[in-house]
Amino acid sequence: MKRITSIVLVVLLGLTACQKNEQQSTNTIDQRIDSLMRLMTLEEKIGQLNLPSAGAFTTGAVESSDIAKKIEQGSVGGLFNIKTVANIREMQKIAVEKSRLKIPLIFGMDVIHGYESVFPIPLGLSCSWDMKLIERSARIAAQEASADGINWTFSPMVDISRDPRWGRVSEGSGEDPYLGSQIARAMVKGFQGDNLSANNTIMSCVKHYALYGASEAGRDYNTVDMSRHRMYNEYLPPYKAAVDAGVGSIMASFNEIDGIPATANKWLLTDVLRKEWGFKGFVVSDYTGVSEMINHGFGDLQHVSAKAVEAGLDMDMVSEGLLTTLGKSVQEGKLTEKQIDEACRRILRAKFVLGLFDDPYKYCDSNRAKNEVFNASNRAEARSTAAQSFVLLKNSGNILPIKKSGTIALVGPLADAKENMTGTWSVAARFSESISVREGLLKAVGANAKILYAKGSNLDEDQVLEANATLFGKSLHRDKRSAAELRDEALRISKSADVIVVAAGEAAEMSGEAASRTNIEIPETQKDLIKALLKTGKPVVLVLFTGRPLALKWEEENVPSILNVWFGGSEAGDAIADVLFGDVNPSGKLTTTFPQSVGQVPIYYAHKNTGRPLNGKWFQKFQSNYLDVSNEPVYPFGYGLSYTTFTYGELQLSKTEMAANDSILVSVDVTNSGSRDGAEVVQLYIRDLIGSVTRPVKELKGFQKVMLKAGEKRTITFTITKEQLSFYNSDLKWVSEPGKFHVFVGTNSRDVKQGEFELK
Ligand code: BGC
Repeated sequence: MKRITSIVLVVLLGLTACQKNEQQSTNTIDQRIDSLMRLMTLEEKIGQLNLPSAGAFTTGAVESSDIAKKIEQGSVGGLFNIKTVANIREMQKIAVEKSRLKIPLIFGMDVIHGYESVFPIPLGLSCSWDMKLIERSARIAAQEASADGINWTFSPMVDISRDPRWGRVSEGSGEDPYLGSQIARAMVKGFQGDNLSANNTIMSCVKHYALYGASEAGRDYNTVDMSRHRMYNEYLPPYKAAVDAGVGSIMASFNEIDGIPATANKWLLTDVLRKEWGFKGFVVSDYTGVSEMINHGFGDLQHVSAKAVEAGLDMDMVSEGLLTTLGKSVQEGKLTEKQIDEACRRILRAKFVLGLFDDPYKYCDSNRAKNEVFNASNRAEARSTAAQSFVLLKNSGNILPIKKSGTIALVGPLADAKENMTGTWSVAARFSESISVREGLLKAVGANAKILYAKGSNLDEDQVLEANATLFGKSLHRDKRSAAELRDEALRISKSADVIVVAAGEAAEMSGEAASRTNIEIPETQKDLIKALLKTGKPVVLVLFTGRPLALKWEEENVPSILNVWFGGSEAGDAIADVLFGDVNPSGKLTTTFPQSVGQVPIYYAHKNTGRPLNGKWFQKFQSNYLDVSNEPVYPFGYGLSYTTFTYGELQLSKTEMAANDSILVSVDVTNSGSRDGAEVVQLYIRDLIGSVTRPVKELKGFQKVMLKAGEKRTITFTITKEQLSFYNSDLKWVSEPGKFHVFVGTNSRDVKQGEFELK
C-alpha cells in the first residue's frame, strides 16, 4: 500500500516538475493542496502543525531534540531560530529529499526591527510617524532575512500598551489604536510586498493576538481581563488592520482572555478572527503557548492541545503538544480528522503562497546573502531612520545642537556600549559592528574637536539586576571600581570640557520580553552621576537610552537638554552624532505618555472624562486626582521638540454642520518660525461630546508629517468623514451618532487649537 502511494506521489510530483507552467495556470492552490492531502496520513498532517525551535536563541524551555530525524519522519512543519543559507538549505534538504511526501519546511525568525542592518526598536520607529519610512524598514528587513534563507517573520507586534512597567512596550507602537493600526498596515506591506511568492518578500505574523499589552500590573505573561467594549475600540484595531492588510499569519498570545487562554480561545481565534474579520491565514501559538495552558489550569497536554485546535489554532510553537497528542484525541473521538485537515490545509497554503512547493530552495541563494545583507545602502537607511526616531524632550537655552569643535566630555554606561545599541530582539545583529556613541562622535568630529571619555557609572549598583538586564551577549562590561571612583574620573575629564554629553538610561535588555520593572526611573547610580555633572555648571546633554517611557520628573526639572534615542539599531552611534551636531534636525514625537510617577500608570491621553474630572488647579477634594502628584504626565502623547519652532494659527472649518454622508475640512496654518528647516507632525484629534457609550476626551484621527523650510508657512488640511467619528457601541456595532464634536489640531495631544462642529 505504502509503495503504491509513493508511486502515485512520484507521478504527481513528476508531473508538477515537468509541466509546471501548465499546472500552475490550471491548478489552483486549493486543488494542489487537495491532491497532496489525499496522500497524507493523519500523522503527516499532524506533523505539519509542529514548529520546533532549531537555534540557540530561546525564550523558554527547548522541547524538541533530534530535529533532523523528526523532519525525515514528516513530523515537522517548519523551523525557527535558524539562520544562514547553508543551515537552512541543510534542513530543507532533509525535508524535500528524505521525508516521504517531500513537503518543504517554512523557516521563521523574529525579524523585529531589521535583520543584520538593525533599525530602531519598534517603539522608537513608531515615533517617526512616517509610514513610508516604517514600511521601508520592514522591506529592508525582509530583503535581508530572505537573502539569508528566512521566509517568515514573527512581526509586527501590534499590542497596544499603556503600562510602561511592561518591558514589551519596546516592541510595539505605543498606546494609540489609530496610529498603531497605520503602523501595523505599513509593517505588513513592508514584509510581504505585493507578491509573497517573490524571493525577497517574507510572510508576516502579527502578534500577540490578543491584548497581551494589557497584562495586569505590567508583569509579563500575566492575566488580562477587559470589557469587549474596550477591546473593540482600543485594543483590537491594530490586529484587524494587519488582517485587512493581508497578513499571512497571526500569533496567539500567552495571556488569558475572559478566563480562557488566547491559545485555546474559540471566540478570539474563530468567531472574531475568521468569521468577523475574514482572516484566511494560519494561527501559530507563542513559544510553548500550548503546554503553558497546563499551568494556566486548563487541563493536561492532551486536553489543552485538542482545545487549541478546536478553537482555531493551527501550529504549535515548541510545545509538541499537538504532535504528541492529537492522534490519540482523534482515536478517542475528542477531535475529528476534519478539524486537523483544516489546520494542515492552512499551513500548506502558506507554503504554496510562498512558492516553496515550486522551489524549496528559493530563499537559499548564497550570492544574495553576500550582497544584500548588512550592505552599505541598508546601513545608511538604518542610520537615517534612527535619526527620525529620536525625540528631543528638552532643550533649554538651545544647548543642542553642539558644535564640532572644542572639547566634549562623553560619559555614561551607554556611551561606549556597542552591544547595547541594537536594543532588544535583535537576534541577527552583528554586535561587534554596531556603532557606539563614542565611535559615532569621534567619526563626526574628526580632527576638529576633542572627545574625552569616561564611563562614569555602571548601569546599576545592583550587580544581579545589571546581569539580568544585559543578557544575550549585551554586556555593559561592568567596571569593578566603586561608584565614587567612576564618578570622580568623569568629573576629572569634564573639567576641560565645553559641554558634557551623558549617555545614560536603560540597557538593551532592561526592556523587551520578561523585563518588567516596578521602578521606571533611571537607576540611582546614574542619576547620582548626572547630579554630580550638573554641579560643574557646564552645559549637560542627556542622551537617553530606553525601551519604555521612563518617569523623568527630576530630569525634566534639572537637566537642560534631553534627547531620547531609544535603541537606534546597528547605526545608532552615527545617527546620534547626526542629531547632536545638528546635521539632522530631530522630529520624533512620542507615541506613548511619559508619566511623572509609576503610580499614575496606566496613563494615556485618550482617557475618559469620569463624573468628577479635575477642572482647574490640582489638588481638589472629591475630584478625580491624587494627593501627592498631579494628573499630568511629564511628556504627553505626541510630544517632541525640534531645533526650530512651529507656530500654529487658528482652526478653520469648512462648515460647522455635517451630514452623515458628507465631510468637513479642517485647516490650520503651520509656520516654521525658527531659523532651521525642520519636520513637524501635525496631529488631528476629535472628541465626541455625548454618546450612547462614553467617549474618550481626545482621540487621534489623523496626522501629517510635513517638512517646512525656515520661515515657511503651509496650510495643512484634514478631511473628517463619518468613519473618523465612528466607534463600537455597546452592541459592538460600528456606528456614528449625531451630536456635537470637538476637533483639535496641534503639535502634541496637549497643546492644540480647538474647533467645534455637529454631525447631523
Ligand atoms: C515571544 C514571541 C516570539 C517567540 C519566538 C516568544 O517568547 O513572546 O514574541 O516571536 O518567542 O521567538
